[in-house]
Amino acid sequence: MFYRPEDGHGLPHNPFTAVVTPRPIAWVGTRGAAGDNLAPYSFFNAIAYEPPQVMFASTGRKDSLRNIEGTGVFSISIVEYTAREAMNMTSGPWPSETDEFTLAGVAKAECTTIPCPRVADAPATFECRLTEVITLPGRGNYLVLGVVTGVHLRDDCLVEGRFDVTRFQPVARSGYKDYTVVRELFQMTRPGET
Ligand SMILES: Cc1cc2nc3c(=O)[nH]c(=O)nc-3n(C[C@H](O)[C@H](O)[C@H](O)COP(=O)(O)O)c2cc1C
Repeated sequence: MFYRPEDGHGLPHNPFTAVVTPRPIAWVGTRGAAGDNLAPYSFFNAIAYEPPQVMFASTGRKDSLRNIEGTGVFSISIVEYTAREAMNMTSGPWPSETDEFTLAGVAKAECTTIPCPRVADAPATFECRLTEVITLPGRGNYLVLGVVTGVHLRDDCLVEGRFDVTRFQPVARSGYKDYTVVRELFQMTRPGET
């Protein structure tokens, strides 16, 4: 089939995010006037090495975006398989005053380089300074760009000097209500590489 988005897909559910799969999940920690906040965002990726930079997109002016605009900082923690239910709990339509760390029973720690909460036991966390919020086409679409100022790697995830994802099994988002989990890796060498 083929469809133009403006004409509709004609399917029972929008296939768009099922096409871009799996998407990593940024568990975004922020601090605002109403308190600390934690929420998952799967329009997320790493976008540069030097300096390391990340992005995530908010479909609407949500608490995370508002807090980041206020403080200029945020943390992004990686979600391991055993944290999937807690992550899901933090995605609810909770009021701004709700601290989702407490709500979902997620241990909180203070970031090192920025005044911001983070998931204490996450396999990895990026501490980020906002560089830019880009307003995207459409209604209420925002791209949040940040530079990474600190990186936490949980000690048990480091195996012989490598950050070993099979140790914690990151959860990723697919379309609909589907998720996947990374349990297996395979290697390939690029042409010209040794
Ligand atoms: C796995 C997962 C991924 C999500 N990804 C996004 C996303 O990329 N962008 C977005 O705006 N909302 C996303 N959501 C929904 C937000 O988490 C939800 O709207 C949440 O209430 C926002 O919290 P906040 O207002 O505290 O920032 C996602 C939810 C889940 C469960």
